[in-house]
Amino acid sequence: MKVRKAIVPAAGWGTRFLPVTKVIPKELLPVLNKPAIHYGIEELIASGIEHIIIVITRGKHLLEDYFSRSFELEHALREKSLYEALSYLSPVCDPDCICYVHQAEQLGLGHAILTAKHLIGEEPFVVLLPDDIVFSEVPLTKQLLDIYQEYHANVLAIEEVPEHRISDYGVIEPLQMTERLYRVLDLIEKPRSEYAPSRLGIVGRYVLLPEIFSALEETLPGKGGEIQLTDALKLLLPNQPILGYRFEGRRHDVGTPLGLLKASLSLALESVDTAEQLHQFIDLSMRQRQLRKGPINH
Ligand code: UTP
Repeated sequence: MKVRKAIVPAAGWGTRFLPVTKVIPKELLPVLNKPAIHYGIEELIASGIEHIIIVITRGKHLLEDYFSRSFELEHALREKSLYEALSYLSPVCDPDCICYVHQAEQLGLGHAILTAKHLIGEEPFVVLLPDDIVFSEVPLTKQLLDIYQEYHANVLAIEEVPEHRISDYGVIEPLQMTERLYRVLDLIEKPRSEYAPSRLGIVGRYVLLPEIFSALEETLPGKGGEIQLTDALKLLLPNQPILGYRFEGRRHDVGTPLGLLKASLSLALESVDTAEQLHQFIDLSMRQRQLRKGPINH
């Protein structure tokens, strides 16, 4: 069965970006020249997804504004022949392919997914967390969909994470099947490093079978008092296979100010328009830093 739909949860508080997230959804903060969520929506479209459901909440209406067309602005730019500026307004997809559901209370990622249940029905679907931006030859969602088409099972994107960061992730107990594919034997949400069953952490892309919804309905609040997707996946495990795919690509976690900055820098260092000037700026900053610290003693 072709996977046509995706849920993009974007109803979180974004506390790590306060105070700006008092008024601006963190998903709209720019990574170099486009809002973070723009990259995720591009990835979904490039992977063949036709219907995107963004989960929002009170105060996140700017996301709806961002993905709707601004005919007045387009008209004004056309009148002034500002065609380059106009090109930046090309919609990432037909605005009709995106719809919105409201999560009334921030009860966690699992709850946000449940909020979109009525729009998914009995189909497999993708979940994309906009905090994870991945640059890869084959879009990450497409990599997971290829695995889904072969095995017809739930598929999670996984990545080897450093030991000191393991407690930030859902972690799998793996049984290796091929170089990149693992059968998931167990999952733990944000374990302390000594209890982590591996260093394979789940990152923000999933292909899920619709049975996840009943598992989510049975899931009690877990870590942080929130309904966790990892806990629902654990409930599903005795009845359905779950696979982990160690994807190809470079991931940036833009859910923190430092991560957002690193992602912007990384893109700017690759762009012909900005690389040269940025390199000069970094070289100069490094030299000034070295001067402040004094000569290196070998
Ligand atoms: P996070 O755990 O990163 O939370 O959510 P957050 O609110 O976005 O950010 P911080 O931790 O306060 O800084 C993971 C994903 O789940 C969504 C978020 O929008 C993000 O995409 N989410 C989380 C919801 O949609 N609803 C929730 O109730 C919680």
